[in-house]
Amino acid sequence: MRGCACRPLRPVGADPRGARPGQGPAQDRCPGRRRTANTPNQAAAGQDAAGQPSAAATHGRKIAAQPLAPAPQASQLTVPGEAAFESARSLAAAAGSIAELRAALDGFTGCNLRHSAKSLVFADGNPDADIMFIGEAPDREEDIQGAPFVGRPGQLLDRMLAAIGLNRDTVYVTTMIPWRPPGNRTPAAHEIELCRPFIERHVALAAPKIVVMLGNVASRSLLGTKEGILSVRGTWMDYKANDSTIPALPTLHPGYLLKYPAQKQLAWMDLLSLQARIEQLKAG
Ligand code: URA
Repeated sequence: MRGCACRPLRPVGADPRGARPGQGPAQDRCPGRRRTANTPNQAAAGQDAAGQPSAAATHGRKIAAQPLAPAPQASQLTVPGEAAFESARSLAAAAGSIAELRAALDGFTGCNLRHSAKSLVFADGNPDADIMFIGEAPDREEDIQGAPFVGRPGQLLDRMLAAIGLNRDTVYVTTMIPWRPPGNRTPAAHEIELCRPFIERHVALAAPKIVVMLGNVASRSLLGTKEGILSVRGTWMDYKANDSTIPALPTLHPGYLLKYPAQKQLAWMDLLSLQARIEQLKAG
């Protein structure tokens, strides 16, 4: 991974995973929550877990400075040089089938995420289906099993599909990012850009008749939406794939719905809209 030849990135909505609508840091969501132990950084700075002067500091007790090695945040990661982006583009473009695309991703070493992930999480369901769902990135369970949407969000996705008569034999499911970001953080902008040629090629090869973007990352990255998912969800848009245009529906991510179940009513409206569109398709 080279750090010197950074290139400017297309803005892709670098909201942290915690910034899915209403999903702030735990302390923000629950003011009454007991504060957890502070980090070594905060301790050395005489701060508590909320970044406030700690009791020890304010009572004059000296805290020994320690050498610190903070875990990098997504925004602090080294952006690879242009060669990695070019390699992603040419590998993806050369894939003539979904199997070749999977093999190309397997051989692509330019994305830092693959080095911390256990598995490549490529796709599930029926690649010949008319409807393709695109999520964000694998969580822990997907990383272990090597398949998308197999954990709790995936179980909810299955229930959502079933509610409108779909299942994994009738849809194709994948994610923007095929490797789990450490600690389930939101993928960094350069990670999204590195994976973009592969997901774009994936859609082109699968050639669905409808594509559903689950959550902010997929919607912003693939549809170019600027507003948050709560503003754009339920609005049919055009996804440009090669020479064709595919109707695309941004909707709420099942992981978000697990945290905010009251929002399921919005997702339900989107599902009904999807169902109506499928009926139109069938009617020709
Ligand atoms: N969230 C995603 O976006 N994809 C998965 O596979 C699991 C959770």
